[in-house]
Amino acid sequence: MIYLNGEFMPIEKARISVLDRGFIFGDGVYEVIPVYSRRPFRLAEHLVRLQSSMDAIRLANPHSASKWTELVGKIIAGNPWEDQNVYLQATRGVAKRDHAFPKGLKPTVFVMASELVPPSSELVRSGAKAIVLPDYRWLRCDIKSTSLLGNCMLRTLAADEGCAEAILVRDGELTEASASNVFVVKNGTVLTPPKSHLILPGITYDVVLEILRANEIAHEVRPVPESELRSAEEVWITSSSREVLAITTLDGKPVGSGRPGPIGERVHALYQQYKTKVMRAPAHA
Ligand code: PDD
Repeated sequence: MIYLNGEFMPIEKARISVLDRGFIFGDGVYEVIPVYSRRPFRLAEHLVRLQSSMDAIRLANPHSASKWTELVGKIIAGNPWEDQNVYLQATRGVAKRDHAFPKGLKPTVFVMASELVPPSSELVRSGAKAIVLPDYRWLRCDIKSTSLLGNCMLRTLAADEGCAEAILVRDGELTEASASNVFVVKNGTVLTPPKSHLILPGITYDVVLEILRANEIAHEVRPVPESELRSAEEVWITSSSREVLAITTLDGKPVGSGRPGPIGERVHALYQQYKTKVMRAPAHA
């Protein structure tokens, strides 16, 4: 069951106009919210980021946070899986093709869910492969825009090499990956780039930083030169769907020992514990 512009329906019944600016220009924003045991994880934070993306593209938010929460709740209830990825997107709506944002359109609002399958325990134990590529995306990567062609091209280059992710470098510094944020461990300290227009402010990135702070694990949020990425003892990617996943091969070479490292394993375990705690908390918490 999906939601489109005020109605719930099977996905096969959903129709939008070919003049929708989301279709013509990629003029829209989105969120992917993980749901565990039918409870959305960090929904309030996802809705705050949605608002920032909308503000950045001058799209009036068609719904209040409580209305979004209600829609997400209905989609979760209307779908068969205990663990889901809820995808929501709002585009500017339907208009005659013209680049400048037309005023007064009715946004197209779409919410769907799919089964959430976290990385398998084998993948968590072995770690994944990644390649390093130049970050040739635009300069507003902080906006969670549906215009993802750059990300899709980069991820496809990674897939061509049998890799799970493309880790991106701009002007000699690590930015993020095609659909995740990146942390590295160098000389025992966890490093990750600060939030800026060059990266998406990940919800999982925030959770990981909270875990590092709460457990007094040495870390620094600062620019990470490509040389530190390439010589790191550990590299991890983080996202709502991949959680905290070790990268153990980078451009065909082992990262550290070629196995997930101790700090990443600890953070992965703490992340799982945190998820379990949140899922068991009273529903209104
Ligand atoms: N991607 N950076 C990029 C470019 C992303 O697309 C994502 C998430 C992240 C991690 O953000 P979060 O921790 O909030 O999931 C970082 C989602 C999952 C997607 O597009 O499917």
